Amino acid sequence: MTQKNKKLIAGNWKMNGLQGALNEIEAIAKKLTDYADKGTFLICPPATLIAGAKALAGDALHIGAQDCHSEKNGAFTGDISAEMVADLGGRFVIVGHSERREGHHESNAMVKAKAETALEQGIKPIVCCGETLQQREAGEAIGFVTQQIAESTPDSLSKDGEIALAYEPIWAIGTGKTASVDDVAEMHVALRKTLVDKFGARGHTVEILYGGSVKPENANALLHTQDVDGALVGGASLKAESFLGIVAAL
Ligand code: PGA
Repeated sequence: MTQKNKKLIAGNWKMNGLQGALNEIEAIAKKLTDYADKGTFLICPPATLIAGAKALAGDALHIGAQDCHSEKNGAFTGDISAEMVADLGGRFVIVGHSERREGHHESNAMVKAKAETALEQGIKPIVCCGETLQQREAGEAIGFVTQQIAESTPDSLSKDGEIALAYEPIWAIGTGKTASVDDVAEMHVALRKTLVDKFGARGHTVEILYGGSVKPENANALLHTQDVDGALVGGASLKAESFLGIVAAL
């Protein structure tokens, strides 16, 4: 069983938050200094708030982006590049979230290209994966998700912990349902094997986060499950109180 000394607790604000929401960033950052030895903390607000969030985040809280383009720059209206995220002080980017895979038709190859571009800019990609309810009920979850990760991650890693993964069963996102601790453990162990098969010993250094309706009430059990190295939190990351409630489970 892999146990990282520090867990990664990441918040994904999705398309939520106006400038007033920066108060939440400030409140989170203030409290996190108490937990610095226990974890690495990250909020990925909408791109419009990255600069403002960064100005308030201090040293205890990292700020990242929810997506980046696979190209360095160019004629891609409406997109943001990894270099732009880095320019604002962002050090993480979520790639391949199921909402982008579905809504923007992102393939494994596209997600891999985004992750590689992020690495070139010194940004750590959090590569997302997850099955539909139909796939889970058909017994296809492990095969589908491990293939997603084999195909969506860079060909090689040049240092330890250079990428992270997030396993987010699609049916658990924003629904209040979470996978059982046994199902999470089974998937995370399978993902660890996929990483070690692909990257050798370095595969052990990749954090595997769980995501999908993580809340203060269920965080303790999920965060102490085999091969769970942290959480990717959607709805419960929007308010300082609930995000900090999850952090307190560490
Ligand atoms: P949720 O979202 O915590 O609101 O279920 C998780 C995610 O999509 O990252």
